Amino acid sequence: MTIQACIFDLDGVICDTAHYHYLAWKQLADELGFEFTKEDNERLKGVSRMDSLDILLEIGQLTVDEETKLVFADRKNQVYVDFIRQIGPEEILDGIKPFLVALRARGIKIALGSVSKNAEMILNNLQLKSYFDVIIDGTKITNAKPDPEVFLRGAQELSVTPDACVVFEDAYSGIEAAIRAGMKCVGVGDPDILGRADKIISGFQDVKLSLLSEIEDVGRET
Ligand code: G6P
Ligand code: MG
Repeated sequence: MTIQACIFDLDGVICDTAHYHYLAWKQLADELGFEFTKEDNERLKGVSRMDSLDILLEIGQLTVDEETKLVFADRKNQVYVDFIRQIGPEEILDGIKPFLVALRARGIKIALGSVSKNAEMILNNLQLKSYFDVIIDGTKITNAKPDPEVFLRGAQELSVTPDACVVFEDAYSGIEAAIRAGMKCVGVGDPDILGRADKIISGFQDVKLSLLSEIEDVGRET
């Protein structure tokens, strides 16, 4: 099937906000009095805010009621938003913009597929919003990755079938979601974590449109 659309995750693919998520969760862990490492943070990538909090509390061996959870999640988001309020186009990861421009020139449709509720603000600050035909974010979906909802919604709103889409993801849960959606997927980052992707790249610096034809040919074991 010819690729007709690309669906991009946001945090860790388009910009390094994954790092700010980490710093914000770490600050909450500090305030609650336990350690939270970068390795721990891998488990939170691509995971919704409330599910991330559950994992964090498990790491800290804390049990709290639902109301307190909301307070903690708000606190983390406050710290996170303070970081991302200040970001600008210089935070776009290398190679992303030329790749988006090349995709548009080729007539490939482009969607954002992120479970973040802050996605719109980030895209605005990066001045990238106009590159996306469709934006699906945490305000529009009910099931976070690894559920395929976010990507299936993207394909639907772009009016393309899932098998004509390729997803770009930096998180294990996101690769899983793409596979469940019946889409091709490119992992951006560590092959040890993203091993199930059809192809893995370290970043977009040297990525050419020929990548799309390469992954069109990849067969997947089911
Ligand atoms: C992305 C990130 C996660 C984050 C989630 C929710 O998927 O990879 O680390 O928890 O979005 O983000 P939000 O901005 O809504 O808290
Ligand atoms: Mg991500």
